[in-house]
Formats: sequence, C-alpha cells, structure tokens
Amino acid sequence: MPVAVAATPPADWRSQVFAGTLLIVPQVAPLTAFRAYVEQLLDEAFAPSAPPAAQDELAAADFMARIEQLRTWLRGDAHARQLLIPVLAHFGLEPSTTFWDRLNVRVLPAGARPQHEADLALGAHRDTWSSNVYAQVNWWLPLYPVTAERAVAFYPRHWDTPVPNDSGGWDLDQLRRERREGAAPTVPLVPSPTGTVDPSDAVAVVIQPGDLLLFSGAHLHATVPNTSGVPRFSVEIRTVALDDVRAGRGAPNVDGAAPRVPWNWFRRVDDRTPLSDVLA
Ligand SMILES: [Fe+2]
Repeated sequence: MPVAVAATPPADWRSQVFAGTLLIVPQVAPLTAFRAYVEQLLDEAFAPSAPPAAQDELAAADFMARIEQLRTWLRGDAHARQLLIPVLAHFGLEPSTTFWDRLNVRVLPAGARPQHEADLALGAHRDTWSSNVYAQVNWWLPLYPVTAERAVAFYPRHWDTPVPNDSGGWDLDQLRRERREGAAPTVPLVPSPTGTVDPSDAVAVVIQPGDLLLFSGAHLHATVPNTSGVPRFSVEIRTVALDDVRAGRGAPNVDGAAPRVPWNWFRRVDDRTPLSDVLA
C-alpha cells in the first residue's frame, strides 16, 4: 500500500494524495491546541467519567446523547475551526483559498452497543461517490490511542479498480426531503457497493493521537468494526483547495456516478462562502 510517512508535509503532498498515497504526518505540532480543546470538550461531555471509560459507566442512550450534543456543538464552534487554521497553514493551505465542510467528531463504541447514525461503522465506500469532488482531501485524527481493532481501513487494490456501487442514484437532497416529510427513505444514508467487497483486501491503518492521516476522498475505505473493548474517538475534516479545482487536479474517478457535484457542501475557511458561489 502506498503509505508515506513524512515528518513535515512534502511540498507536493496533494499530488501524492491524488495519486493514491496515504500520507501520515506524525506528531503535528500545530495540532496540539486543537486536540487539547476537543479533549477538554469530551471530558466535560462525559464528566465525571473519563471519555474512554464512559461507554461502560453510562447507559447506552445517555452515552449516545452526550456524543450527539458534542457533535452538534462542534459543528457550529468557530473557535474549534480557528484552532485548525495553523494546521492548514502547516500544509501550505490558506484560509482564503481553502474550503471545508463539516468538522466532524465521531465516537465508535466498542462491541454491539447502539450507535448514532453519525457514528456508524461505515462499510467500504468512497467519499467521492457522494461528494463527487475529486480534489477532496480527507484528514483523520484519533483523540485517544488507536489499535488495529478500532482503526480505519483501506482497500488499496481498489484505488484504480472499479467497485460496482449505487452512487448514480444517490441524492442527498432527496434523502433530506424524505426525512423532513417523515417518509421511509428510498435513498441510502451513503452510497454503497452493490456487490461484495472482499474483506481480505482491507488494510487497517493505525496512527496515534497527535498524528494526522491524509487521504484522497476517492480512496475506498471503511471503519474497522470496533472489537477492541474501548470506544474510538476521532475527528474528520475534508478540504478542497480552490487551485486544485480550477486546475482540474484531483484523484481519478474510476467508478463514481453521482449525477451532480454539490460544490455548496464546501465553504471557504475565512468567510464561509460556499465553493459553488466562488465557481459560479
Ligand atoms: Fe468516508
């Protein structure tokens, strides 16, 4: 698997990511303040339990409700986003030309405990089946130690091998409309493979708190079902650099068929202008 470990981000890191490299940057110093802030929020959310122990000390519904409250808070938290700007700068990205979507904290309980849909262990998927943006870079960071039993997995064989999927009929607007109307959803939560993906192709990537994993949104990846006994806490962001979109740079599309590109999912870091407005 093309994994690159770099103490500092290479100048051409986005080209490498668009070629399928999984880029690990260990112990990213500018990430420290953000991590401390989110860990403090987690401590407060689960007090008096320590976050890794909370799933054993709280009722399942209470555990899930506290995660959901934290997730909602973080999505609207300008301070958390502000703390990520030095991290973007470390990778040469400027707030005026970089776009991102939701800042997402995910907590994957161990075992068969109930999960909120936003925390579900996702099966094999490419983010680009839904976002349709091939310049999308995913940033993944754990908040507590990770093991191979609670990690993220990739299917390197499928970087350039098509996987039959239902992205051609997936529509987020329709999904949201159906939910608003209380109708039974006819659109799945996320586009999925329509056949079987050989699980033996999956390779778990294990990094530790302070490390960052960057990968193309076109990589086939999955949540490793958590059999470790301890919940997995992670944060995800997804960025798009305007220069890449304008220059047509990005990962190859081997099997995505989403009917349109929802550029409006991504907003400019400095003033929240939707990417769709900038490209219009
Ligand atoms: Fe994903």
